[in-house]
Amino acid sequence: MNEHLLAQVEAYRQQYPWTGERPLAMSRYRYYGREVLEAAVTAMLAGENLLLAGPKATGKNVLAENLAAAFGRPDWNVSFHINMDSTYLLGTDTFRNGAVEFRPGPVYACAESGGFGILDEINMARNEALAVLHSLLDFRRILDVPGYGRLRLHPAARFIATMNHGYAGTRELNEALASRFVVLQLSSLHGDELERVLAAEFPEMDHKARKDFTLLFDELQQKCENAEISSKAVDLRGLLDALHLMELGLSVGQALSMGVVNKCFDEDERRMVQDVISLRISSKMTAASVFDRN
Ligand SMILES: Nc1ncnc2c1ncn2[C@@H]1O[C@H](COP(=O)(O)OP(=O)(O)OP(=O)(O)O)[C@@H](O)[C@H]1O
Ligand SMILES: [Mg+2]
Repeated sequence: MNEHLLAQVEAYRQQYPWTGERPLAMSRYRYYGREVLEAAVTAMLAGENLLLAGPKATGKNVLAENLAAAFGRPDWNVSFHINMDSTYLLGTDTFRNGAVEFRPGPVYACAESGGFGILDEINMARNEALAVLHSLLDFRRILDVPGYGRLRLHPAARFIATMNHGYAGTRELNEALASRFVVLQLSSLHGDELERVLAAEFPEMDHKARKDFTLLFDELQQKCENAEISSKAVDLRGLLDALHLMELGLSVGQALSMGVVNKCFDEDERRMVQDVISLRISSKMTAASVFDRN
């Protein structure tokens, strides 16, 4: 990240030191993709709500967690789904020790304490459930909870939504909601950045093998762009899973079948993906050689 942005992030952290009990956000992975990261940080500094859109396994959640961690705030992750209603987001009355008490939902808790709210797969929910977010996410910065009152958004709070257009069960985000976010389109990693992710996740991996798997993933992406195969097999998560299986000793072929090839349920497509693999990955490559255990 450039110095100028770093200084501003530091200023935010000075202005809003976290003193609550909830632990600060952390991410198991570092986000790779400097341009996107800088744009996202700028959006957070400006106090914008940020929508991260993009295909599967493009690091949307990794980026959201990295942002919360960089700004030194805890995160509230809310997974949106079709049966979600607004009381789940805001909170509801519950009985406690014989009395009715308001139990805040994740969005309420986050807005109140100034956390980073991660509205995950926001386009999975019904529009009616999302309407309660409108006043929170525009200039009003308030949440009205029926029967409980009005909450003013903590100035340090930020909301980051993620969405994937293609997934089954997703819908188009309605314009009213979309208009309240600035949007970043994320795309799959390739080339050097992909290689860096592999190196970070598998420091023991043989360099040549790392190159081969990077090129393999690049080729699968290329085939997908040319509409020769669908996007099912183009799944970085699947490639990482396959490598984890190899790390434990599973054969290269079996691991790639489980993590990549078998994601295609159409036999012709599976064959095509297998052909790409056969061209790029030598049949002599063993799990031990991938992880330098010869
Ligand atoms: N730019 C990136 N930087 C670091 N890791 C990445 C990046 N892109 C993908 N990954 C890796 O891909 C995996 C999936 O990341 P993540 O869960 O954030 O994806 P996502 O975009 O939220 O996917 P989905 O739409 O399926 O929920 C993680 O293991 C992560 O390490
Ligand atoms: Mg995700």
